[in-house]
Amino acid sequence: MSVSKKLFSTAVRGKSWWSHVEMGPPDAILGVTEAFKADKNPKKINLGVGAYRDDQGKPFVLPSVKEAERQVIAANLDKEYAGIVGLPEFTKLSAKLALGENSSVITDKRIFTTQSISGTGALRIGSEFLSKYSKTKVIYQPTPTWGNHVPVFKFAGMDVKQYRYYDKSTCGFDEAGALADIAQIPEGSVILLHACAHNPTGVDPSREQWKKISDIVKKRNLFVFFDMAYQGFASGDVDNDAFAVRYFLEQGHNIVLAQSFAKNMGLYGERVGAFSVVCADADEAARVASQVKILIRPLYSNPPVHGARIASRILADPALNKQWLGDVKLMADRIITMRTQLKDLLAKEGSTRNWEHITNQIGMFCFTGINPQQVEKLIKEHSVYLTKDGRISVAGISSNNVAYLAHALHQVTK
Ligand SMILES: Cc1ncc(COP(=O)(O)O)c(C=O)c1O
Repeated sequence: MSVSKKLFSTAVRGKSWWSHVEMGPPDAILGVTEAFKADKNPKKINLGVGAYRDDQGKPFVLPSVKEAERQVIAANLDKEYAGIVGLPEFTKLSAKLALGENSSVITDKRIFTTQSISGTGALRIGSEFLSKYSKTKVIYQPTPTWGNHVPVFKFAGMDVKQYRYYDKSTCGFDEAGALADIAQIPEGSVILLHACAHNPTGVDPSREQWKKISDIVKKRNLFVFFDMAYQGFASGDVDNDAFAVRYFLEQGHNIVLAQSFAKNMGLYGERVGAFSVVCADADEAARVASQVKILIRPLYSNPPVHGARIASRILADPALNKQWLGDVKLMADRIITMRTQLKDLLAKEGSTRNWEHITNQIGMFCFTGINPQQVEKLIKEHSVYLTKDGRISVAGISSNNVAYLAHALHQVTK
């Protein structure tokens, strides 16, 4: 071998194949949990986690889910592949849960639903579909929005833009700002709407405000992408939480919809979700179905079956369904109780700040309205862990820690 060839091969061999790969930033939310784990303070609280906890601070497997799983196992089913779009019974029942018992969209067969890898997977299939077939490749998202919404759509090749949503001065919905911004969105664009329990703010439009949003979206000829990750989790009532989706359909919007069963069935790790496209008619739905299948096949081929079997049983069996609705209400009610207790205890601490938004906001998260310096103090001086934007997961609050949290919040805000 010549000297130069030898030098070249040593240089190539000496350098690792991936030496050019730079360290990426850690995930903002998982980073909070890491810091929490390392803290030795026995009073520490983790309010970063986006999963339900019972009043003992423990993960909660719903009794209805335990019973459904027992029945699935007793049925001794095989482990064959599902089809590309998952279990037919599951997709039918998911659509019915979202759209309602008597939806004409379903009876007219103008909806196509595929099983997905939970809500994130539904968003990703949707973003790939829009990126390929939508008139424009631009999606407008609320400010702020769930952190993963931006990369999910960007990675699929969509351009992500924003509309105003949250009003810092009231810790509530910025109706004027949102309507003004939506009125400026170019026709033919896509708009992302959180169907209920907006993450991270916990701020949902009222029914009257939803009606105004629907009108303006129709006037601008925008296409709606609904993300419904918390159906039932917001108010404790699955029909109530589906109001926006059903109202938009009644108004003639042909939407796409991402559903997750992570929160409302506590099936986080089972990855159970659905993605639906509402079409003009059955023929269009069949054509859309054929193209979505072509997108899914090279992504993951077909979805996992176990969680979908559990969800199907819960949605199909009247007794299990009733039990599940009770479980959902129990979770939602515990969260609502914690909100009330936190607000009352802040008043008891002597806080003169307006904390009304704690009980006005809904769902798993509360945007406290505290600034980054106050967040830092909460973490450093009180071992209360939360994301930098001041968001707390109300699911992480319990009877045992709510007084300590109120005290700490008052200390950093007085
Ligand atoms: C707004 C929103 N959409 C979608 C998801 C997706 O969750 P998963 O993929 O676990 O169903 C979440 C989870 O936190 C969320 O908050």
